[in-house]
Amino acid sequence: MEQDIQSVLYSEAQLRERVQELGRQITEDYRDRDLILVCVLKGSCVFMADLMRAIRVNAAIDFMCVSSYGAGTSTRGAVQLIKDLGTDVAGKDVLLVEDILDSGVTLSFLRDHIIRSRGPASFGICTLFDKPERRRVDVQPDYVGFVIPDAFIVGYGLDYAERYRNLPYVGILKPEVYS
Ligand code: IMP
Ligand code: MG
Repeated sequence: MEQDIQSVLYSEAQLRERVQELGRQITEDYRDRDLILVCVLKGSCVFMADLMRAIRVNAAIDFMCVSSYGAGTSTRGAVQLIKDLGTDVAGKDVLLVEDILDSGVTLSFLRDHIIRSRGPASFGICTLFDKPERRRVDVQPDYVGFVIPDAFIVGYGLDYAERYRNLPYVGILKPEVYS
């Protein structure tokens, strides 16, 4: 697994520190609110597990699962909803927790779906990584861990063809692995 990594972009320590900072910021912003953290599976599971423990206000959690990539490195453009919310979020403060914002297709789909069909009191997005250069659809995240250049990254939940999610750090994949 590790021989496919070209370079480490963020170490375990760097990720830990930034996730703690995001948790502190969210704690400040969501005092006296009715927070529900929604993890977008599967990529966000590691980030979610660390972030929720860095948030010190009452929060419920839920999970959604979408698929758009298949075994490629860019979106196919159509998002498939595999698992919808299991909780009634009407009147609650939804914060979507996502691993990475790329074209914006996935998050705009989820945002529109949740706002239209679920009527939350508020809707926010927390993404660990943002690749603004790649944006095709307008999506404005409220919290961003790291803004990164256009490279395909894996680890800390992020995959290529379902592999590398269990790497504890984030690395850039050698292009020969996917070309
Ligand atoms: P978007 O719909 O193009 O914004 O893509 C968002 C989704 O694509 C994320 O939730 C990831 O699952 C996946 N993705 C985008 N860029 C990367 C990457 O660099 N590494 C791994 N997955 C990625
Ligand atoms: Mg993925």
